[in-house]
Amino acid sequence: GAGRDLAGRNVVVSAGGTREPIDPVRFIGNRSSGRQGVALAAAAAARGAHVTLVAANIDPSVLEPLTPAPPGAPDVTVVPVGTTAQLADAVHAAAAAADVVVMAAAVADFRPETVPEAKIKKVAGRHPEPIRLVENPDILAGLARERRRPGQLVVGFAAETGDAQAGVLEHGRRKARRKGADLLVVNAVGEQQGFGTTSNEVTVLDGAGEVVARAEGSKRVVADAVWDAVLKTRS
Ligand code: C5P
Repeated sequence: GAGRDLAGRNVVVSAGGTREPIDPVRFIGNRSSGRQGVALAAAAAARGAHVTLVAANIDPSVLEPLTPAPPGAPDVTVVPVGTTAQLADAVHAAAAAADVVVMAAAVADFRPETVPEAKIKKVAGRHPEPIRLVENPDILAGLARERRRPGQLVVGFAAETGDAQAGVLEHGRRKARRKGADLLVVNAVGEQQGFGTTSNEVTVLDGAGEVVARAEGSKRVVADAVWDAVLKTRS
């Protein structure tokens, strides 16, 4: 094992998928289970870190490995959130004291511009009103470029669809440079990979888009490889 090589470090992990309300009973969401982020939190805690897990709509069964914490067990604080705005607030609050921030959450890029107070009703013979979307702020880019504490490391995830490894990587490379994060963990989703599954295959890029690590296996194995890459980048 990696021992307690994260002892005394404060880390923040965002995980799950944000949901943007359309009306009081409906939302726009995504298929992220939160498993990779939970594995990152569990791995960091096992390696001695103080962990804040900002959990966007994660099923309690997925969080089970972290709760309830028996005495002397992994030090993880779970902060449940729903929308992107709530996730941003929780990440910003926790990041103020963090050495490392890992944005593993699948954040909605857009949200409905306005949310009616009443449920949208079906009216016979009438087309529904279009839902106007506005862009959410990019939390990762904001952390990396504007809010970063001195010495703080910022890690992003990129779930790219398509199985052409080269295309996925090229996309990741551009994203790494655009977002300004120190590390970007790229995984292909869609086929039998990524969302909802228990195993994963990732390539870790640095801020310039160069490959620094590859990992394949359970989400815990991938999580430990990400923390290895963090420590390597740090030292
Ligand atoms: O651009 P894309 O959504 O693929 O980037 C994914 C990465 O950016 C993830 O780390 C995700 O958590 C983060 N992100 C964010 N805020 C957004 C959209 C994505 O922090 N509004």
